[in-house]
Amino acid sequence: MPGGIDPHTHLSMPFMGQVTCDDFFTGHAAALAGGTTMHIDFALPVNHDLLAGWEEWQKKAEAAAIDYGFHMAVTSWSDKVAADMAALTQRGVNSFKFFMAYKGALMVNDEQLLQGFRRCKELGAVPQVHAENGDAVAEGQQRVFEAGITGPEGHALSRPPELEGEATARAIRLAEFVGSPLYVVHVMSREAQQEIARARQRGQRVIGETVASAISMDESRMWDPDFKVAAQYVMSPPIRNKEHGAALRAALGGGLLQLVGTDHAVFNSSQKAVGRHDFRIIPNGVNGLEERMHVVWQEMVNSGLLSPPDFVRVTSTAAAQIFNVYPRKGVVAEGSDADVIIFDPAVRHTLSAKAHHSAMDTNIYEGYEVTGKVVTTVSRGRLVWHDGKLNVTRGSGRFVPTPPFGPLYDGLERRPPYLLDVARYGGVPQRQHRHRARSSSGAAAGSAPQQQGLLDNPWLKSGLISGSLSLAGDVLAQLLTLRGQQQQGSSSGGYDVARAARMGTFGLLFYGPYQYWWYGLLARTFPGTSIPMFATKVALNQLCLAPITISVVFSWNMALAGQLDQLPDKFRRDFLRTMVNGWRFWVPAATINFKLVPLQYQVLYMSTCGMLWTAYLSYQSAAQAK
Ligand code: URP
Ligand code: ZN
Ligand code: ZN
Repeated sequence: MPGGIDPHTHLSMPFMGQVTCDDFFTGHAAALAGGTTMHIDFALPVNHDLLAGWEEWQKKAEAAAIDYGFHMAVTSWSDKVAADMAALTQRGVNSFKFFMAYKGALMVNDEQLLQGFRRCKELGAVPQVHAENGDAVAEGQQRVFEAGITGPEGHALSRPPELEGEATARAIRLAEFVGSPLYVVHVMSREAQQEIARARQRGQRVIGETVASAISMDESRMWDPDFKVAAQYVMSPPIRNKEHGAALRAALGGGLLQLVGTDHAVFNSSQKAVGRHDFRIIPNGVNGLEERMHVVWQEMVNSGLLSPPDFVRVTSTAAAQIFNVYPRKGVVAEGSDADVIIFDPAVRHTLSAKAHHSAMDTNIYEGYEVTGKVVTTVSRGRLVWHDGKLNVTRGSGRFVPTPPFGPLYDGLERRPPYLLDVARYGGVPQRQHRHRARSSSGAAAGSAPQQQGLLDNPWLKSGLISGSLSLAGDVLAQLLTLRGQQQQGSSSGGYDVARAARMGTFGLLFYGPYQYWWYGLLARTFPGTSIPMFATKVALNQLCLAPITISVVFSWNMALAGQLDQLPDKFRRDFLRTMVNGWRFWVPAATINFKLVPLQYQVLYMSTCGMLWTAYLSYQSAAQAK
């Protein structure tokens, strides 16, 4: 079968004042002995700097003995974080983890979560969440500690499954709101698992990853009177009671959870001992990188909950597909990397710290019996584990880039619109969807549908408001120009001003409806802008460009009025005078204008002016030739 892929590890990770004691060499040795040939490690930002974190993890990975990828944690929000996320997707990181817990350290709030999910969607990356309500956890820890419970059992008591369920539901709803997929890491409770199942039933793209410890262990271990034993099991979210384990196994067997990782984050007993008198500072994390394949086989295949092909799916193929490295990884096939294991289902063995290859001095699976064993591991064509012997080479592991826009994004844009997606209501008359919303909540059940008025269409309304404003601006511009021309006309003569005015009004009768349509279209194209805001912008825009508009529109009207013979000289003079004398006004005004109005509009506006100007120049050269 294909080598295992562990989608969730923490090697050499600084965390809670300690550094996990497996590095990229000891962790990889352990992985290979357990049949895992690739893992995806969580890189952490350094002082919230993602690229600095990336550099740091590159150095750690120089010791690698198996292939690896990276997720990156996002622990704050800024333009730089957003830009660094893009840079990282270019470098082969297609997943970002957001911690909803670890208040005061890694935790992000809902606003940051929304920004992060949105950015992931733009980049085609997978947003991942550690789902626990961090505020409630902090309060729970305080309450339990103040009640006098200071040992490892306080860890389980202070962060109940409801807090995991709440955060899972919240993350799912926020992802739904943004329209991004979601990957929930280390699902430890029935509450979280059920939220994921419900979301998937609704058609949402949510992945649930559980971990080896969640499906095989129970919380009673944290009540062990020996602190050294009990502290080993402290991880977050906590290992739950037996019912949760059973629910998770059933969900994994039934396809309601998609894959199994480990959350391998190991601290030896001296590191765990810092929390001897306060469970809140016991470094969180358990082992599993070496044990995962055996534990999943024992719990799921030997119990009849999973078939061997489904075992391959949850331990290898699903991770390769989700993180977009399939079929290079996750399958035994021609052209794929030769990551292969031989699994003997008849070999019985017992897991123990004495036999494991991790740098850890304890093992949460101490004494755990398994029927079925990885007897051979081949990593990219090299025989690295056979007959109980490891042949691991430092530096032989390769970084496997995980490209963005993997299968979780396939066809995502064709899915029915998401909750509150503005486009969902585009073109739907406002009163109609108000009615729909009310009748669906039951408040207006049985009431007659409301009459549709023309002005109920928000886009048309916006077109009418902004069009009227711009029309008023144009009329004003025309009147001002006429007045100026009248004054000049009295000295230089030559214009039939009354006729030009009549023709101008006639022109505006066409120009007005055109404006209604044009601004209505613009408002529809930029649905995020509110109607009053859009109308204000358009009015300001008209004002800013007034000097240019005045010259162009007035000259156009003069042309319509049959003053063509006299126009060129005067047009040039008037136009240039307006442009030159008005520069103090229109240069800053146009600059402001460019900040106000969407680029497409600017381009169209300028090209219209350009067309008129070109028409004038060709007319002028024709007149000169005459
Ligand atoms: O207890 C855990 N899970 N430690 C590692 C950090 C994390 O939350 O994944
Ligand atoms: Zn976590
Ligand atoms: Zn983790």
